[in-house]
Amino acid sequence: MSHIENKWQEVWLRKGAEEGLCDLESLMRADGFDAGTGAISVEDWLKSSTNIQEKLELKKGSNVLEVGCGAGAMLWTLKDQPVNIFGVDYSKTLIQKAKEALPELKAEVCEASSISYQDKMFDAVFSHGVFFYFSDYEYAQKAMDEIVRVLKDDGKIYILDVPDLEKREECETFRRDVVYSGEEYPTAEDGAYRHLYYSKSWFAEFGARNGMQVEFFDQDLESYPMSPYRFNALLKF
Ligand SMILES: C[S@@+](CC[C@H](N)C(=O)[O-])C[C@H]1O[C@@H](n2cnc3c(N)ncnc32)[C@H](O)[C@@H]1O
Repeated sequence: MSHIENKWQEVWLRKGAEEGLCDLESLMRADGFDAGTGAISVEDWLKSSTNIQEKLELKKGSNVLEVGCGAGAMLWTLKDQPVNIFGVDYSKTLIQKAKEALPELKAEVCEASSISYQDKMFDAVFSHGVFFYFSDYEYAQKAMDEIVRVLKDDGKIYILDVPDLEKREECETFRRDVVYSGEEYPTAEDGAYRHLYYSKSWFAEFGARNGMQVEFFDQDLESYPMSPYRFNALLKF
Protein backbone atom coordinates (compact mmCIF):
# COMPACT_ATOMS: atom_id res chain seq x y z
CA MET A 1 0.00 0.00 0.00
CA SER A 2 1.19 3.48 -0.84
CA HIS A 3 2.70 5.89 1.66
CA ILE A 4 1.31 8.84 -0.23
CA GLU A 5 -1.21 10.65 1.90
CA ASN A 6 -4.86 9.97 1.10
CA LYS A 7 -6.35 13.32 0.05
CA TRP A 8 -10.02 12.45 -0.31
CA GLN A 9 -11.13 14.52 2.68
CA GLU A 10 -10.08 17.72 0.89
CA VAL A 11 -12.32 16.74 -2.01
CA TRP A 12 -15.33 16.17 0.25
CA LEU A 13 -14.86 19.44 2.09
CA ARG A 14 -14.86 21.29 -1.25
CA LYS A 15 -17.91 19.40 -2.51
CA GLY A 16 -20.07 20.41 0.39
CA ALA A 17 -19.13 24.05 0.06
CA GLU A 18 -20.51 24.25 -3.47
CA GLU A 19 -23.85 25.98 -3.97
CA GLY A 20 -26.85 23.85 -4.72
CA LEU A 21 -30.48 23.18 -4.10
CA CYS A 22 -31.78 20.55 -1.74
CA ASP A 23 -33.62 18.27 -4.15
CA LEU A 24 -32.48 14.67 -4.64
CA GLU A 25 -30.46 15.36 -7.78
CA SER A 26 -28.55 18.22 -6.12
CA LEU A 27 -27.76 16.02 -3.14
CA MET A 28 -26.58 13.23 -5.45
CA ARG A 29 -24.37 15.79 -7.19
CA ALA A 30 -22.91 16.98 -3.87
CA ASP A 31 -22.27 13.32 -2.98
CA GLY A 32 -20.38 12.76 -6.26
CA PHE A 33 -22.90 10.52 -8.00
CA ASP A 34 -23.54 12.82 -10.95
CA ALA A 35 -20.71 12.33 -13.44
CA GLY A 36 -17.99 10.07 -14.84
CA THR A 37 -17.60 6.71 -13.14
CA GLY A 38 -19.79 7.93 -10.28
CA ALA A 39 -22.88 8.61 -12.38
CA ILE A 40 -25.99 6.82 -11.15
CA SER A 41 -29.47 7.50 -12.54
CA VAL A 42 -32.22 8.61 -10.17
CA GLU A 43 -34.07 5.40 -11.05
CA ASP A 44 -31.11 3.26 -9.94
CA TRP A 45 -30.67 5.46 -6.88
CA LEU A 46 -34.23 4.74 -5.81
CA LYS A 47 -33.65 1.04 -6.54
CA SER A 48 -30.66 1.07 -4.17
CA SER A 49 -32.70 2.85 -1.55
CA THR A 50 -35.47 0.23 -1.73
CA ASN A 51 -32.81 -2.48 -1.53
CA ILE A 52 -31.39 -0.87 1.63
CA GLN A 53 -34.82 -0.66 3.27
CA GLU A 54 -35.59 -4.30 2.44
CA LYS A 55 -32.24 -5.74 3.49
CA LEU A 56 -32.22 -3.83 6.76
CA GLU A 57 -35.86 -4.82 7.40
CA LEU A 58 -36.61 -1.37 8.75
CA LYS A 59 -39.61 -1.11 11.02
CA LYS A 60 -41.66 1.76 12.36
CA GLY A 61 -39.52 3.67 14.85
CA SER A 62 -36.20 2.05 13.82
CA ASN A 63 -33.08 4.11 14.43
CA VAL A 64 -31.04 4.10 11.22
CA LEU A 65 -27.52 5.49 10.89
CA GLU A 66 -25.65 6.16 7.66
CA VAL A 67 -21.87 6.27 8.05
CA GLY A 68 -20.40 8.72 5.54
CA CYS A 69 -23.84 10.17 4.75
CA GLY A 70 -22.43 13.17 2.89
CA ALA A 71 -25.15 15.61 1.80
CA GLY A 72 -27.76 12.98 2.64
CA ALA A 73 -28.78 11.77 -0.81
CA MET A 74 -29.39 8.21 0.39
CA LEU A 75 -31.08 9.39 3.59
CA TRP A 76 -33.31 11.71 1.53
CA THR A 77 -34.97 8.60 0.13
CA LEU A 78 -35.66 7.37 3.69
CA LYS A 79 -37.14 10.61 4.93
CA ASP A 80 -40.73 9.60 4.19
CA GLN A 81 -40.37 6.29 6.04
CA PRO A 82 -41.51 6.05 9.67
CA VAL A 83 -37.93 5.69 10.90
CA ASN A 84 -35.48 7.97 12.74
CA ILE A 85 -32.59 8.98 10.52
CA PHE A 86 -29.05 9.72 11.72
CA GLY A 87 -25.85 10.41 9.81
CA VAL A 88 -22.14 10.93 10.38
CA ASP A 89 -19.51 12.24 7.99
CA TYR A 90 -16.05 13.81 8.27
CA SER A 91 -17.05 16.64 5.95
CA LYS A 92 -18.48 19.54 7.95
CA THR A 93 -19.69 21.21 4.77
CA LEU A 94 -21.58 18.13 3.58
CA ILE A 95 -23.15 17.58 6.99
CA GLN A 96 -24.34 21.21 6.93
CA LYS A 97 -25.92 20.59 3.55
CA ALA A 98 -27.56 17.36 4.74
CA LYS A 99 -29.09 19.15 7.72
CA GLU A 100 -30.38 21.90 5.46
CA ALA A 101 -31.95 19.36 3.10
CA LEU A 102 -33.34 17.08 5.82
CA PRO A 103 -34.58 18.97 8.86
CA GLU A 104 -35.52 15.69 10.57
CA LEU A 105 -31.95 14.34 10.27
CA LYS A 106 -29.73 14.13 13.33
CA ALA A 107 -26.15 14.32 12.15
CA GLU A 108 -22.64 14.67 13.52
CA VAL A 109 -19.27 15.55 12.02
CA CYS A 110 -16.83 12.76 12.84
CA GLU A 111 -14.53 10.14 11.39
CA ALA A 112 -16.04 6.74 10.59
CA SER A 113 -13.39 5.33 12.93
CA SER A 114 -14.74 7.33 15.86
CA ILE A 115 -18.53 7.58 15.65
CA SER A 116 -19.96 10.14 18.05
CA TYR A 117 -22.99 8.14 19.15
CA GLN A 118 -23.59 5.98 22.20
CA ASP A 119 -23.29 2.19 22.34
CA LYS A 120 -26.20 0.07 21.09
CA MET A 121 -28.25 2.96 19.72
CA PHE A 122 -29.12 1.74 16.23
CA ASP A 123 -31.33 -0.96 14.77
CA ALA A 124 -29.53 -0.59 11.47
CA VAL A 125 -26.32 0.99 10.19
CA PHE A 126 -25.46 1.32 6.54
CA SER A 127 -22.69 2.91 4.53
CA HIS A 128 -22.98 3.64 0.83
CA GLY A 129 -20.02 4.55 -1.39
CA VAL A 130 -17.64 5.26 1.48
CA PHE A 131 -15.35 2.33 2.33
CA PHE A 132 -13.13 2.79 -0.73
CA TYR A 133 -12.02 6.21 0.52
CA PHE A 134 -10.49 4.76 3.69
CA SER A 135 -6.71 4.96 3.82
CA ASP A 136 -6.07 1.31 4.76
CA TYR A 137 -7.59 -1.87 6.22
CA GLU A 138 -6.65 -0.90 9.76
CA TYR A 139 -8.85 2.17 9.45
CA ALA A 140 -11.64 0.09 7.88
CA GLN A 141 -11.43 -2.36 10.76
CA LYS A 142 -11.81 0.50 13.26
CA ALA A 143 -14.83 1.79 11.34
CA MET A 144 -16.46 -1.67 11.41
CA ASP A 145 -15.71 -2.00 15.15
CA GLU A 146 -17.37 1.37 15.73
CA ILE A 147 -20.42 0.32 13.71
CA VAL A 148 -20.78 -2.81 15.85
CA ARG A 149 -20.38 -0.72 19.01
CA VAL A 150 -23.29 1.59 18.14
CA LEU A 151 -25.48 -1.29 16.90
CA LYS A 152 -28.21 -2.91 19.03
CA ASP A 153 -27.76 -6.62 19.83
CA ASP A 154 -30.10 -7.70 17.03
CA GLY A 155 -29.04 -4.94 14.64
CA LYS A 156 -28.07 -5.19 10.97
CA ILE A 157 -25.21 -3.69 8.99
CA TYR A 158 -25.24 -3.10 5.25
CA ILE A 159 -22.06 -1.90 3.55
CA LEU A 160 -22.74 -0.97 -0.06
CA ASP A 161 -20.67 -0.15 -3.12
CA VAL A 162 -17.53 -1.96 -1.96
CA PRO A 163 -14.76 -2.36 -4.59
CA ASP A 164 -14.13 -6.06 -5.13
CA LEU A 165 -10.46 -6.96 -4.69
CA GLU A 166 -10.91 -9.89 -7.08
CA LYS A 167 -11.82 -7.41 -9.83
CA ARG A 168 -9.24 -4.75 -9.03
CA GLU A 169 -7.13 -5.17 -12.14
CA GLU A 170 -10.15 -5.19 -14.43
CA CYS A 171 -11.62 -2.15 -12.70
CA GLU A 172 -8.41 -0.13 -12.66
CA THR A 173 -7.86 -0.92 -16.34
CA PHE A 174 -11.39 0.26 -17.12
CA ARG A 175 -10.84 3.49 -15.20
CA ARG A 176 -7.41 4.17 -16.68
CA ASP A 177 -7.95 3.14 -20.31
CA VAL A 178 -11.61 3.86 -20.86
CA VAL A 179 -12.69 6.55 -18.44
CA TYR A 180 -9.49 8.57 -18.14
CA SER A 181 -8.12 7.71 -21.55
CA GLY A 182 -5.66 10.44 -22.54
CA GLU A 183 -6.10 12.29 -19.24
CA GLU A 184 -4.18 12.19 -16.01
CA TYR A 185 -5.37 9.11 -14.11
CA PRO A 186 -6.26 10.27 -10.61
CA THR A 187 -7.00 7.07 -8.72
CA ALA A 188 -3.90 4.98 -9.41
CA GLU A 189 -3.11 2.52 -6.64
CA ASP A 190 -0.17 4.59 -5.42
CA GLY A 191 -1.89 7.96 -5.78
CA ALA A 192 -3.45 10.35 -3.29
CA TYR A 193 -6.87 9.57 -4.74
CA ARG A 194 -6.58 5.79 -4.74
CA HIS A 195 -9.46 3.48 -3.89
CA LEU A 196 -9.21 0.71 -1.29
CA TYR A 197 -10.44 -2.68 -2.57
CA TYR A 198 -11.80 -5.42 -0.27
CA SER A 199 -12.03 -9.19 -0.50
CA LYS A 200 -15.33 -10.73 0.49
CA SER A 201 -13.38 -12.80 3.02
CA TRP A 202 -12.37 -9.55 4.78
CA PHE A 203 -16.04 -9.00 5.64
CA ALA A 204 -16.72 -12.72 6.23
CA GLU A 205 -13.87 -12.88 8.78
CA PHE A 206 -15.08 -9.71 10.48
CA GLY A 207 -18.57 -11.23 10.71
CA ALA A 208 -17.23 -14.51 12.12
CA ARG A 209 -15.23 -12.66 14.80
CA ASN A 210 -18.38 -10.80 15.84
CA GLY A 211 -20.83 -13.69 15.67
CA MET A 212 -22.56 -12.26 12.60
CA GLN A 213 -23.68 -13.95 9.40
CA VAL A 214 -22.55 -12.26 6.21
CA GLU A 215 -24.27 -12.30 2.83
CA PHE A 216 -22.99 -10.71 -0.37
CA PHE A 217 -24.98 -9.18 -3.19
CA ASP A 218 -24.16 -7.83 -6.64
CA GLN A 219 -25.07 -4.21 -7.13
CA ASP A 220 -26.80 -4.73 -10.45
CA LEU A 221 -27.25 -1.02 -11.29
CA GLU A 222 -27.37 -0.59 -15.05
CA SER A 223 -26.56 3.11 -15.15
CA TYR A 224 -23.55 2.95 -12.79
CA PRO A 225 -20.23 2.26 -14.56
CA MET A 226 -18.65 0.93 -11.34
CA SER A 227 -21.47 -1.51 -10.58
CA PRO A 228 -19.81 -4.61 -12.14
CA TYR A 229 -16.75 -4.11 -9.90
CA ARG A 230 -18.54 -3.55 -6.62
CA PHE A 231 -20.47 -5.67 -4.10
CA ASN A 232 -22.75 -5.10 -1.11
CA ALA A 233 -22.20 -6.89 2.21
CA LEU A 234 -25.03 -7.53 4.68
CA LEU A 235 -24.08 -8.52 8.24
CA LYS A 236 -26.61 -9.71 10.79
CA PHE A 237 -26.66 -11.59 14.09
C1 LIG B 1 -19.38 9.23 -2.47
S1 LIG B 1 -19.84 10.11 -1.04
C2 LIG B 1 -21.26 9.16 -0.53
C3 LIG B 1 -22.21 9.96 0.33
C4 LIG B 1 -23.46 9.20 0.75
N1 LIG B 1 -23.12 8.02 1.46
C5 LIG B 1 -24.30 8.83 -0.45
O1 LIG B 1 -24.39 7.64 -0.78
O2 LIG B 1 -24.86 9.73 -1.07
C6 LIG B 1 -18.61 9.59 0.14
C7 LIG B 1 -18.80 10.20 1.50
O3 LIG B 1 -17.95 9.53 2.43
C8 LIG B 1 -17.45 10.47 3.34
N2 LIG B 1 -16.24 9.89 3.95
C9 LIG B 1 -15.18 9.35 3.30
N3 LIG B 1 -14.28 8.90 4.18
C10 LIG B 1 -14.79 9.12 5.42
C11 LIG B 1 -14.30 8.87 6.73
N4 LIG B 1 -13.11 8.32 6.93
N5 LIG B 1 -15.07 9.23 7.79
C12 LIG B 1 -16.28 9.83 7.57
N6 LIG B 1 -16.78 10.11 6.35
C13 LIG B 1 -16.04 9.75 5.28
C14 LIG B 1 -17.18 11.69 2.46
O4 LIG B 1 -17.07 12.89 3.18
C15 LIG B 1 -18.42 11.67 1.56
O5 LIG B 1 -19.49 12.36 2.14
